[in-house]
Amino acid sequence: MLSLRGIVKRYGKVTAVDGLSLELRRGEVFGLLGPNGAGKTTTLSIAVGLIGPDAGEAVLIAADGSEIGRATEAKVRARIGVCPQGDALYENLTARENLVFFATVHGMPKAERRARADELLEMVGLHERADHKVGGYSGGMRRRLNLAASLVHRPELVLLDEPTAGVDPHSRSAIYQIVDELRVGGTTVVYTTHSMDEAQRLCDRVAIIDHGRVLAVDTVDGLIDRHGGHAVVTVTRSDGDVRTETEQPLAVLAGVDLQSPDVLGVRIDRPDLESVFLSLTGRSLRD
Ligand SMILES: Nc1ncnc2c1ncn2[C@@H]1O[C@H](COP(=O)(O)OP(=O)(O)OP(=O)(O)O)[C@@H](O)[C@H]1O
Ligand SMILES: [Mg+2]
Repeated sequence: MLSLRGIVKRYGKVTAVDGLSLELRRGEVFGLLGPNGAGKTTTLSIAVGLIGPDAGEAVLIAADGSEIGRATEAKVRARIGVCPQGDALYENLTARENLVFFATVHGMPKAERRARADELLEMVGLHERADHKVGGYSGGMRRRLNLAASLVHRPELVLLDEPTAGVDPHSRSAIYQIVDELRVGGTTVVYTTHSMDEAQRLCDRVAIIDHGRVLAVDTVDGLIDRHGGHAVVTVTRSDGDVRTETEQPLAVLAGVDLQSPDVLGVRIDRPDLESVFLSLTGRSLRD
């Protein structure tokens, strides 16, 4: 669907993206994970043609494998949608007016704009507040409207940059549902987030990036198998915790005398995407 080939982007002395290559498959939900400053937003901006790379190219691929063109070409941009990290909405317009405006920008015939706006307002659960100005919207409502705006022109590929940042559990769950609907409808989705749970729940494949490079790309299960490390069995005894790293947590558990008055509790922690993330990117702070 999208081929990122050796992308490099520098800002002065900072190399934001450093020879990054990725192949996105048609119809998948693809997670882009990485610490603050890893280069996720810069990569998405290049993928959608908002900024040009210093080297490499982003190419949109048709279902038959032929190349449609580079992300900077208008005909390619017309097939891609982007929900930016910061909301890009007009505060003095209502939600409906915002969507009609974006439909106009995309060259949608006038007769279709309102119906498309209504359809999207319903999809993101804003139909009842459609005629209120965005200036009075909550964070979650803005994020949902921003997501709707990225879908106005029915893109085949949509790039969502932290769509759930700063939203409450209700809006978050609504956003998950929209991503699921997009998947069912065959839209390819690229999704960035700092929530490992979210990536684990939504994404068919995940890339972990840092310092503008891809460290690993696979399914969540594949990443956990390869980079997650072992399970940890923790036995809490009256004199403290005993931790055992093991591939056979149940066997270790079977060796614990659960009847003993010294054993206060037991716990098995299996590796998850967070274990993978920390093992690949390290534990140091990024500021
Ligand atoms: N317009 C810019 N001018 C200068 N430096 C920039 C610019 N945009 C990004 N950078 C730098 O490039 C690097 C990558 O930034 P980017 O925003 O792509 O990271 P990110 O992975 O999206 O981070 P976050 O998780 O915080 O959103 C950072 O070091 C950032 O400071
Ligand atoms: Mg970012």
